[in-house]
Parts: sequence; structure tokens; C-alpha cells
Amino acid sequence: MKDNKVQIFDTTLRDGEQVPGCKLDTKQKLIIAERLDQLGVDIIEAGFPVSSPGDFNAVSEVVKVVKNASVCGLTRAVKKDIEVAAEALKNAKRPRIHTGIGTSDSHIKYKFKSSQEEVIRRAKEAVSYAKNFVDDVEFYAEDAGRTDNAFLAKVCEEVIKSGATVLNIPDTTGYCLPEEYGAKIKYLKENVKGIENAILSCHCHNDLGLATANSISGVVNGARQIECTINGIGERAGNTALEEVVMILKQHPYLNLYTDINSQLLFDTSRMVSEKMGMLVQPNKAIVGANAFAHSSGIHQDGVIKNRETYEIINPEDVGVNESSIVLTARSGRAALAYRAKKIGYELTKVQLDVAYKTFLEFADKQKEVVDEDIHLIMKEVNKISKISVA
Ligand code: KIV
Ligand code: ZN
Repeated sequence: MKDNKVQIFDTTLRDGEQVPGCKLDTKQKLIIAERLDQLGVDIIEAGFPVSSPGDFNAVSEVVKVVKNASVCGLTRAVKKDIEVAAEALKNAKRPRIHTGIGTSDSHIKYKFKSSQEEVIRRAKEAVSYAKNFVDDVEFYAEDAGRTDNAFLAKVCEEVIKSGATVLNIPDTTGYCLPEEYGAKIKYLKENVKGIENAILSCHCHNDLGLATANSISGVVNGARQIECTINGIGERAGNTALEEVVMILKQHPYLNLYTDINSQLLFDTSRMVSEKMGMLVQPNKAIVGANAFAHSSGIHQDGVIKNRETYEIINPEDVGVNESSIVLTARSGRAALAYRAKKIGYELTKVQLDVAYKTFLEFADKQKEVVDEDIHLIMKEVNKISKISVA
């Protein structure tokens, strides 16, 4: 793998599917897994096989349809979980077991009522056990975001010795600030013996709206894998949104980091996941929201009509959206009305546009948006005064 490639680990089918109401059946999981593979993700986390017979079945079917990506199954640091995951992954071309344990003081004290020594022992044992089944073993230090860096480094060092190929540093509670998360990754890069033999992975939750910023800070500081979901779905406020990190790295080439994602499939994939999971995409969602390339205020519309780049940093075609849209509202100006009228066949003179705009404002003040049918009605009014030439 090239030094500046960031692997995309998609967990839509695992962390994403944990969202209440987003449960998928095997058929739906297969359709999404095939699409993720076409999209170019490097790893698909297909589920948590020990959690239910349905999830076990889904993971064992997903491995059959995925052609390029590694397929991963989640486990706790529990032998039975690892055995069941290995069984579900047995037909995978590139299987990965993702095992781990909580490492923060609160997890150790309240969840396990245990000690740091015991957590390290269980972590090592889980990784070594998983290595009996697959070569590719990812270890997660749950709640790493709130884990003391020196202890985290010790855990990482020990699991690398046991054979972990990837070290997942989850900000499970979405607590970290970008600088803090980036510093954590840098600390691990500089203080874990053997770190050159493993990939550091960012798994950030969005409780404070910082999941994407934290993941980017992580890769800028040396991580080379981002764990994310389509549309940012996931536990509570969600996970890092795949489409966001991919486009950030694409739009900022000076970071000198890239992914293998075919960004032109992003919009379609977003809609497919939304429909299968019954989870609407908020209109103002970055990259894939309905308004991501829509312009409604007069000043912006005038700029975009003259040159798209005045108010857009992404070419909509790069993410699979045909074109930017000019939405007509009471805040729109003459340029936008003339533009939309021309699109549906009306070429207006300056005088006609003045008349049309007056009528348009009457419509726009009464309704949220003026649509093509309204423009036809407006043009009838204008035609009464002067004949419009049809473009
Ligand atoms: O958020 C988290 O810590 C997780 C782990 C299970 C990887 O999802
Ligand atoms: Zn998570």
C-alpha cells in the first residue's frame, strides 16, 4: 500500500445498522455490500456475527458477493465471539476479524470492574486467538478517545506483539476535539514500539459534530484508515460520514492523501442506503443532501449562473449529481428567474423580465418555492402584455 493512501473501512452494515429502526435483512445487506464494493471501499464491516443468527447469516452471505474489499466481522474479546466470526468469514477472499475491549478508566472500572493489567491480558489473548483463524486482525481499544495516552500506547504495543495488523483508536463517545484526537494518533505513532508494522485507524463518533474533523485530524497525524458510514449514520449522533472524508481528501490535494473511492457513485449510494434503512438524509447534509448544490438567494444565484465556482467548491458531477440547482424563492433575483424560464423554453426581453419578475414575487411571497408549473402561469400573464419568444 502506498504511504499516502487512506483506507476506507465502511461500517454502514455494522455500526450504521445499530441505529434503532435501521435493521436490514440479509437481502438488503447484500445489495448494499455489493454497492460498497463497487464504490471502492477497502474494508466492509458486514456485522457482528455472534449477536444473532440473522447477523451471522448476513455476514456469511456478504462474503460471497464481495469481489474486491476485505470483509470484516466484529467481536468482543471473547473466544466464542471470535470462533463465530471466523466461521461466518470462512469463505471470504480477504477476511478480517475486528476484536477489542474497552480501555478507558470508566470502561475498566464500571463495565468490567477490572484492572488495566487484566484488560491488557484479555486484549492480547483475543488477538492471538483470532490469529489462529485469519491473518488480518484489527484490534479496537474502545473509548480510546478518553483513554490515557500512555496506557493506550502500552495496549497497542502488546497487541502488535500478538499479531494485530490494524489498531483502531475509537472516539467511541465523540468526546475529543480535533487537535486532541490528532495529538493522540501522533503520540501513538511516536511512542508505540512496532507501530511501523500496523495501521492506525480512526473511528470517530459524532456526538459533538466533530467526527469528520477528528478523522481528518487523525490521518493528517499519521493514521491511514478511516472507519465511516454512508450518510454518517451510526450509534446516537452517528459516525464519520464516508462521503465527507472522501471529498475532503479529494478537494484538498495539498494534504497529499487519497482514497480509492469512486466519488461519482456517492450520491446514488447515499440514496440507496437511505431508502433501504428508511432513514432520510437531512436536506442540508454535506455532499449528499438535497440542498448541497441548490442555490436560492439572489446574490448566490447570480454568481453561480455566471460561474459555478463563485459559490461551489465541488463540481456536483464529481459526486454523481447532474447539475447545481437554482431554486426560486422570494429571495431570488431576476437572473435566476430568467435562467429557469429559459430552461423551460422562454426567452425574455428585459421589459418582459421586469413584468414577469413582478408577478413572480407575488407567487413567491405566497409559497415556499416557485416551481416550473408556476413559471408557465407567470408567462401567461406576461404574454398578455407582450408576446414572449419561445427559446
Ligand atoms: O465506537 C466504537 O468504539 C465501536 C467499536 C466497537 C469499534 O464501534
Ligand atoms: Zn462505533
